[in-house]
Amino acid sequence: MNLESFLSERAKAIPPSAIRRFFDMANELKGQVISLSIGEPDFVTPWGIREAGIFSLEQGNTHYSPNQGFIELREAITVYLKKRFKLSYQPKSEVIVTVGGSEAIDIAVRAVLNPGDEVIIPEPCFVAYKSCVLMSGGVPVTIATRAEDNFVLLPEQLKAAITPKTKLIMLGYPNNPTGAVMSREQLQAVVDVIKDLPILVMSDELYGELTYEPADHCSIAELDGMIDRTILIGGFSKAFAMTGWRIGYVCGPDTLLAAMNKIHQYIIMSSPTTAQEAAIEALRHSHDHVEPMRQEYNRRRRFVVHACNEMGLACFEPLGAFYAFPNISITGLSSNEFCERFLQEEKVAIVPGTAFGECGEGFVRISYASSMDNIREAMVRLKRFVERNRPK
Ligand SMILES: Cc1ncc(COP(=O)(O)O)c(C=O)c1O
Repeated sequence: MNLESFLSERAKAIPPSAIRRFFDMANELKGQVISLSIGEPDFVTPWGIREAGIFSLEQGNTHYSPNQGFIELREAITVYLKKRFKLSYQPKSEVIVTVGGSEAIDIAVRAVLNPGDEVIIPEPCFVAYKSCVLMSGGVPVTIATRAEDNFVLLPEQLKAAITPKTKLIMLGYPNNPTGAVMSREQLQAVVDVIKDLPILVMSDELYGELTYEPADHCSIAELDGMIDRTILIGGFSKAFAMTGWRIGYVCGPDTLLAAMNKIHQYIIMSSPTTAQEAAIEALRHSHDHVEPMRQEYNRRRRFVVHACNEMGLACFEPLGAFYAFPNISITGLSSNEFCERFLQEEKVAIVPGTAFGECGEGFVRISYASSMDNIREAMVRLKRFVERNRPK
């Protein structure tokens, strides 16, 4: 039987993640490779949070939880958003606890898109946005943000991309893979373009706690009139080093959330009970543990950016997340060739910029969520590789 013929057009249309490809290639070279390819903290979840998970299991809390998530967690999320961004959400109707920010993005898109609806996606960006839109029958309309514009979305670019079919804009700042942050003024310029148009914004704020001076994260939902049309995606994976717990959340207007909750009920039922109890502890008592991790990322960030610039790879200064996105075009290699050869010859895994959109050609993503020893050695090898490949 030809099983290929059973595959849906939508499943066939989405490409496999290029990040995973490099991660898997690195795994095949077991043990010999330094991997700066994956977007996850090298830190272990702070002990207090792990202990809350262990305690939950010891109590025998091994059952389903309410579909929307424990009310205590939804309350803790709203308290955090109020304190941090002055955003007011109702825990009962405007928050859903999800399986990571990943599920939140998926149900947000599925709840609002009809086939043919256009979704504006500034690139380079997190790999899931485009695929989620395609799986919902939507039409991704990408905008290439540029290093010379600090990889922010410019109002004139947005204006040019809007059509009567535009329904949603997917914003991901602080940005994976560039590390760009959009300031309040830059976000306001975006808001000014859409304020009289029937367009929603999905704002993925997974890295909202990881910004570096002088930047600070501003949520677009804070801006005048935006809370009623913003779907805010948040999570625990990055700030609290909780990637494996699979927990995140979505907040937004109750009409949209009710539709998302229907999808969530059928495909997920409820987020992991243990992870929810741990997440309550994270929000109530563990913010102090985020700061030392952020400071360590900041130290590594400065080291990597400086090292790249010194060896001739022009590197935009990332002010958020834990990635550097240097320009490798002086080598004359494509992003893909660069990463494949760097892995084979120097045993360091990084990701081609094209994994995050075509406009990522000429760039690579280096994750500095790895030990300083690994990073230091990786930069020695990168310098050697660049010198070998620099046209004489
Ligand atoms: C920008 C961004 N959004 C969302 C996610 C998904 O995170 P999670 O599902 O672990 O919460 C990631 C993961 O890398 C990301 O980089």
